[in-house]
Amino acid sequence: MKITVQAGPKVPLSSDLLVVPAYARGARGADIDPSWRAILPKSVLGPVRTGDFKGALGSRTFAHSPDGKPSERVLFVGLGPKRGVDGNVLRRYGGIAGRVSQATAGKKSIVLLPTSGKRLDAVGRTRLVAEGLTLGSYTFNDYRAVEGASRIENCSVLLPDSEGIASARKSAQLGMDLADGVNLARDVGNAPPNDLGPVELADRARRAARASGLKVRILDEKAIEKEGMGALLAVAQGSVRPARFIVLDHQPSRPDGRPPLVFVGKAITFDTGGISIKPGAGMADMKFDMCGGAAVLGAMAAIGKLKPKRRVIGLIPAAENMPGGRAYRPGDIIKSASGLTIEILNTDAEGRLALADGLHYAQRYEPDLIVDVATLTGACVIALGKHFSGAFSNDDKLCRKITEFASDSGEPMWPMPVTSDYVRQIRSDVADVKNLGGRMGGAITAAAFLSQFAGDGPWVHLDIAGTGNIDRANDLGPKGATGVAVRTLVELAERY
Ligand code: BES
Ligand code: ZN
Ligand code: ZN
Repeated sequence: MKITVQAGPKVPLSSDLLVVPAYARGARGADIDPSWRAILPKSVLGPVRTGDFKGALGSRTFAHSPDGKPSERVLFVGLGPKRGVDGNVLRRYGGIAGRVSQATAGKKSIVLLPTSGKRLDAVGRTRLVAEGLTLGSYTFNDYRAVEGASRIENCSVLLPDSEGIASARKSAQLGMDLADGVNLARDVGNAPPNDLGPVELADRARRAARASGLKVRILDEKAIEKEGMGALLAVAQGSVRPARFIVLDHQPSRPDGRPPLVFVGKAITFDTGGISIKPGAGMADMKFDMCGGAAVLGAMAAIGKLKPKRRVIGLIPAAENMPGGRAYRPGDIIKSASGLTIEILNTDAEGRLALADGLHYAQRYEPDLIVDVATLTGACVIALGKHFSGAFSNDDKLCRKITEFASDSGEPMWPMPVTSDYVRQIRSDVADVKNLGGRMGGAITAAAFLSQFAGDGPWVHLDIAGTGNIDRANDLGPKGATGVAVRTLVELAERY
């Protein structure tokens, strides 16, 4: 779907779908922006005039115009009360418009830009609606032999007047670049594990880097061994597919001189559990175990296009976790790149091993901040469900700051504790650390394990096990990989 920006009120509203924002005003029903009310014929305003449509946030209703004017199909989308309209509401509005456009046959849809939004001018609002449209219209149809329902080809966001239209167009492009990064992460996340092993992931990263102007370096198994990454190699050794370590680098043409940000993403392209094999039920979902790596890839692709002034590096340790004659075992003691030895007690706690070597590699950049992203623990899903990612850090203030960035990005995250008591739980009798911290507080002991490899500088770990993929569509996309954390990472690159 191609997205363009136009300015009214002279643009003809004739289209296959006209999307109209409406605000809730309690018992009195919904309210329409005066500039849009003025150009809509009374006949299509029925649901709003009668009060049958109340404009609750996320609600929607169709009106049909028998003479096809201005458009046969009109969709009213509720934004909730006017004073509550913020970036998240506008993104969601775009998402709903995108999803419905995507499911509607025809050539053209027109999406009217809401004229309200907290501390946001028309330019800022356009960016968020364009972002939402790009997210909401996403589908994953690469593997269907027979195409699904036809969809609208062109979608145009309509501004009430042409003031600032040039900057609104630029701003819409920024929103689309960001959302394209999220959609790249979704594509990679949704890809089936037979087609996406570490090598294929590295190929995709190389292609994305080229398209976005990023530097890229792929370490193959020899180079990984040379780096001493025994933890990543242990995970990979049970699979016929070799590991890869992907390095993506955004080097600004005029750097601001500040130390870089480094993102590290877990990319287990399929997690069987290894010798500590997982039960069959739900194992297919373990193709999503590379969603942390996919988020780093998607964020870096967007960063390459948005070109923030700060240097940003994305690291993706990638492996497949399989059982087999060469697989690593419970009881093994391995040596990580940091030099710390790790006693393996469960081969299904593999993500922290891949990340241990990634976090150690991150140190060489002497970064301002390290953020790792991982579908790390089932325990995090038990703790927070599927609506919040867990945020863990060696600095409580930093942790809260990151959750604020995340909230602005529409990616809810909740701060979780990591203290020395939890670190004690991963001390080993025979090695420096063990990869299992006991049944209780499993998301936290996993984070405590990572903390041993993250160095002394500021570090945040995001556990997206519950949020990386969803079982039901929402307003911003279909079921499957969500691309979560991409928006927060890009926000950090732009504003941290
Ligand atoms: N990839 C899983 C975590 C996971 C579970 C992600 C459910 C998404 C949904 C991870 O590698 C894993 O298996 N973790 C184990 C750790 C345990 C063995 C300490 C877990 O959570 O059970
Ligand atoms: Zn596992
Ligand atoms: Zn895993």
